Order: sequence, then C-alpha cells, then structure tokens
Amino acid sequence: MNQPISADAWVATSLGDPVKVLERQTVEVRPPGPNEIRVAVQAFCLNFNDIDIIRGRYTTLPLEPPFVPGMESVGVVESAGLGAEHLVGRRIVGIPVMAFGGYASYAIVDAATALELPDWISNTDGAALHYPFHLGWFALRERGRLQPGETLLVHAAAGGTGSGALVLGKALGARVIATAGSDEKVAFCKELGADHAINYRNGDWVDEVMDLTYGRGVDVAFDAVGGDVTVQTFKCMGFNGRHLMVGFAEDITLEDGDYLTPRPIAYGNFDLCGVCLVYVTDPVAIRRTLGFNWPARSAGLDAHAQILELIRTGKIRTVVGAEVGWEDLPEALQRMESRLTTGRLVVTAGA
Ligand SMILES: NC(=O)c1ccc[n+]([C@@H]2O[C@H](COP(=O)([O-])OP(=O)(O)OC[C@H]3O[C@@H](n4cnc5c(N)ncnc54)[C@H](OP(=O)(O)O)[C@@H]3O)[C@@H](O)[C@H]2O)c1
Repeated sequence: MNQPISADAWVATSLGDPVKVLERQTVEVRPPGPNEIRVAVQAFCLNFNDIDIIRGRYTTLPLEPPFVPGMESVGVVESAGLGAEHLVGRRIVGIPVMAFGGYASYAIVDAATALELPDWISNTDGAALHYPFHLGWFALRERGRLQPGETLLVHAAAGGTGSGALVLGKALGARVIATAGSDEKVAFCKELGADHAINYRNGDWVDEVMDLTYGRGVDVAFDAVGGDVTVQTFKCMGFNGRHLMVGFAEDITLEDGDYLTPRPIAYGNFDLCGVCLVYVTDPVAIRRTLGFNWPARSAGLDAHAQILELIRTGKIRTVVGAEVGWEDLPEALQRMESRLTTGRLVVTAGA
C-alpha cells in the first residue's frame, strides 16, 4: 500500500481551453502522506473552479502543467498516511490535497475534508453533495445567519452551488428569490422550489427584486457570480441584510479587482460577508500560515450529520443536472463554461 499506484486520469497538458488541453493518460499516484488518504475513486463532480484552474487564472492555487485537475472525490479509502488510518475501507467524499488530482481513478485526499457517506446515498448523490450543501450550510447559516421567514436572493440559482443554496434556503424556511441566465433555467429554479425566479440577463432585475420585497430589499444574498451582479445586488440589500460573497463565476480575476466602493455598503447598513469553505484540522495554524480563516473539521462533521438528515428525511435532494461519461468530461466543462448546465455534473470513474 505504501507504493505509487497507476491511475486513469485526465491531465492538463498546458493551460488553456479544457477541450484542447485535457488529455487522457495513465499517471502514477503517490502513496498518501500524514493526514492524507488515497481514494479509489468511484465518482466526482465538475466545479467551475476547475475551469479557472485549467485556464491558469486561479491565482489562489496556481498550477504548472502537466497536472490532473479536479477538486472533489467520492470513493473508498484504499490506503492512509499516519493519523488517517481509521478511514481505510470507508466510502467518503473529500477534497483532494491542494484542490487538484480529482479527475483520476485514484486521488490523494486531505483527511481533514473526508466525510463518510452512508450506504443509502449513491455515488452520484455523494458527488453532488459536498460543495453545494456544505457551502450552502456554511454560507447561509454560519455567515448569513439566515432565519425562517427571511428573504433569500440566490444568484445563478440553477447552477451547482446556487441550486444547493436555493434548496437549502427553502428547507431552512426562507422565501427564495432565484436569478438565472436563461428562461429554461428560470423554469428549473421554480421546479426546485424557488418562490420567484428572474432571468437576470433580461431587463432590470434589481427593480423586480425590490418590488418582490415591497421596497425593503432582501435579508440575505448568496452571490457566487461577482462583478456587476455584486454591484447591482448592493442596491437591493435590506436593512441589516447579509451579502454573501461566495464566488466569481463572472470573472475570477475580480477576486483582486478594485470595482467595489464602500459607500453603498456603509450607507446601506448591511453586512458584506466573505465566504470560503475548506474544512481544516487546525484553523489557527491556517490563520498563521496562509492568513485565511477556515472552519474546523469538527464543524464540518456537525454540518454533515445535519445535511444527511435533511436528505434522508426528504427535506432536500441533491441536484444532479447530468451524469457525464469519462470520455465526455472535457465537453461537459465546455458546456459549463458556456452557461449551458444546471445543477451538478457528475462523472463516474471505474477504479
Ligand atoms: N466560497 C467557496 O468556498 C466556494 C466553493 C465552491 C465554489 N465556489 C464558487 O461558486 C461559483 C459557482 O461554482 P459552480 O461550480 O457551482 O458553478 P455553476 O454555478 O454550476 O456554474 C457557474 C454559473 O455562473 C453563472 N455565470 C454568471 N456569469 C458567468 C460567466 N461570465 N461565465 C460563466 N458562468 C457565469 C452561470 O449561471 P447563469 O447562466 O444562470 O448566470 C453559470 O451556470 C464559482 O465562482 C466558484 O468559485 C465558491
């Protein structure tokens, strides 16, 4: 077990368009180090961040080709490093070390992020669970302090993380206003339970949101789009509202942009809340080394138990937009980048 193992993988051979630069290869996957596990992968989902990483514009974790992209894995723990031995043989969903290496039949996963999957959850549902629902839970409850009866605005609500926030927001008792980029996606948001859904690429969606809230504005906004959508969202935040800065699907380089001015926030009397979810064993060490505040694994285990209970009792369901064949992975990323996908795209891998 303490040996490298051969794996079928998609490799980014250079930085650029995923359809052009991804190549199917056999790679060697190293043995797991301390607090790491090696997972025989059964399924994984595609993340929008994967596209930014493959295109070389994700400056948080810049990677030099060749590398195997992929930041989530579902599978059975085949071997473990020191401190993670208790996970061997368990079926888990987790984040590969440094958020790459997931597009492969074996992956090295950070044990701090490994969450066990009960027998009654399929690999596909397990792969569609982590970011949509853990991120939604962390964003809406921990950062957004969402209360039953409050109004929640979810942008890109037909997408992967957005659909999770929509479904979870409803289960937490909020009135949900969803936005999405096409009329088909708007209809999909309504199917998922949105109280109102707006095509935010047509007309003045800010006025629509203000009308729907009788001029008060929303209590919480889940914003994984960024850019102009963020600037416009500030115009519809209610008194004591919480704007959740979750992502930058519009343009990841805006993470370091200077397009936000303090005035609408100061005069708007709402909170601007950063949201970044990575479960870690030692949050203080991360604060000291990287300067980030990341939640503890113990919080992740607690959230996992509560999310699983919501799924088991039918109060929420995972949103799988498509199951993608191994061969079709690059084209699926292309569809995601072109805003043509809904929910999570799940790839099944035979280890
Ligand atoms: N904070 C965290 O810890 C964390 C964790 C995971 C992911 N995220 C963030 O969540 C965001 C969404 O990730 P995801 O994997 O769930 O993707 P996704 O929502 O499935 O896809 C991205 C969606 O963003 C919308 N969008 C708006 N402007 C776009 C543009 N210019 N190009 C492409 N799409 C655009 C599109 O929906 P419409 O067509 O409906 O507009 C698209 O479907 C990413 O920015 C990611 O960084 C954050």
